[in-house]
Amino acid sequence: MHRHEHHQHEQTLAELRDALTAGFWDERYGGTDRVWSGRPNQRLVEQVADLAPGTALDVACGEGGDALWLAEQGWQVTAVDVSQVALARVATHAEERGVEDRVRLGFYDALADPRPAGRRTFDLVTVSFLHVPLPDFPAIYRGIADAVAPGGRLLVTAHHPDDVTTGARHDHGPGLMFEPDRVLEVLGAGQPDSAWEVEVADTPVREQATPDGPLLVRDTVVRLRRR
Ligand SMILES: C[S@@+](CC[C@H](N)C(=O)[O-])C[C@H]1O[C@@H](n2cnc3c(N)ncnc32)[C@H](O)[C@@H]1O
Repeated sequence: MHRHEHHQHEQTLAELRDALTAGFWDERYGGTDRVWSGRPNQRLVEQVADLAPGTALDVACGEGGDALWLAEQGWQVTAVDVSQVALARVATHAEERGVEDRVRLGFYDALADPRPAGRRTFDLVTVSFLHVPLPDFPAIYRGIADAVAPGGRLLVTAHHPDDVTTGARHDHGPGLMFEPDRVLEVLGAGQPDSAWEVEVADTPVREQATPDGPLLVRDTVVRLRRR
């Protein structure tokens, strides 16, 4: 019994990690012209509104909706992802939108090396909807946070686990969706001597358009400032 449970857990973790590989995502992106909308995420737009443009790192950028929008707002953007198919698409769209001079692209595999780019380098590090297995979460999110310069911001946007309870979203897998506390805990944010000031730790609801009509979904939104 015990052995069986253990075995099952291992299988599940391996399967969850399979969904974080270049092969999985290249196939997903390669199968269609466009997976996401091309527009920036609403939470990014809201959270960046009061920031002066500087250097930004978009982690797990996908097709670049966020990265390209940031470039259009005057940010110097580095966009990284595990999928070369996605990165090639970002390059094409950057040219189409005339922002290729402000967008750099890079390969990043969070499971192979959680640090996406230079340490303490970026004024803004943003990561939208990168859901990773619970055992991998601390290393990956600490690695990502490491790229934030002193005085810079980390912005994390994710699906909130409530969406599974309300039926708005199918379960991505055990522990994949998370609440703001998980980010705060792994970074020690909000503790007295913490390097991080908590600017936003919120779980707002928005309307998402679907073929069956609008759906109410909840996001996890965390914005931290490195002191
Ligand atoms: C749900 S999509 C979000 C894309 C984009 N951030 C957005 O909001 O439109 C998740 C992204 O994570 C990327 N990803 C998956 N596994 C990864 C890994 N191990 N390292 C880096 N990126 C990964 C995928 O290629 C995909 O683009």
